Amino acid sequence: MSSPIGIIGGTALAELAGVSPQHAPLVPDTAYGAPSGPLVRGGFAGREVCFLMRHGRGHRIAPHAINYRANIRALADAGCRQVIAIAAVGGITEAMRPGRIVIPDQLIDYSWGRVHTFYDDPAEGGLDHIDFTEPYTPRLREALLGAARDLDMAPAAPAVYGVTQGPRLETPAEINRMERDGCDLVGMTGMPEAGLAREAGLDYACAAVIVNKAAGRTGGLAIHAEIEATLAQGMRDIESLLEAVVPQL
Ligand code: HPA
Repeated sequence: MSSPIGIIGGTALAELAGVSPQHAPLVPDTAYGAPSGPLVRGGFAGREVCFLMRHGRGHRIAPHAINYRANIRALADAGCRQVIAIAAVGGITEAMRPGRIVIPDQLIDYSWGRVHTFYDDPAEGGLDHIDFTEPYTPRLREALLGAARDLDMAPAAPAVYGVTQGPRLETPAEINRMERDGCDLVGMTGMPEAGLAREAGLDYACAAVIVNKAAGRTGGLAIHAEIEATLAQGMRDIESLLEAVVPQL
């Protein structure tokens, strides 16, 4: 495949230092409005990538306010067929300790009120109830997992990513419920991004880094200090993982 690889950076990947842009980053206009920020298109690890910051420049856009449709459409319009989504998440279960890289295989969507489908305009016609048995493309997931193992990162997988609405953190009771539901991770941006990618026909997988123990598993405000302490190494690990996996795709 020679189409560019889409990379959506989040809190755990504010920029992709290794990209050598081919031209000035462009904020494309899509049929669904503007994406969160410019698409940085250029060479990375021997391939062409399109890098997009989910929260925009300077982390301005809250999880519920992101135009997920414009982000996915912009990557598809740029010719991407595969998208790797980077996420900083909280760890719910014991094995999900801060600093660990996780390649989730399932998700539960607790978010609400987000524009979550391309099929909401009867005038446009067409409706497809996409299959979501495997919300993350297995081939892409396995490539990420293999690369993380080769790098001795001891990645956690399988794992269930529970997507909350944010921007507030969760109550301990909410995290307890999520654990009873089978969630291993909690984050705020996994959906509708994954569903929209599937609707758009893109291959999509997520590489997450655990930056804190979920609310109720650690003491109150200590969460922010924990995130600060974990994030820098997490970003370095994510960048190494991308350098290893991109040439294989
Ligand atoms: N909860 C929700 N989203 C998050 C968390 C969390 O604890 N950590 C990073 N993103």
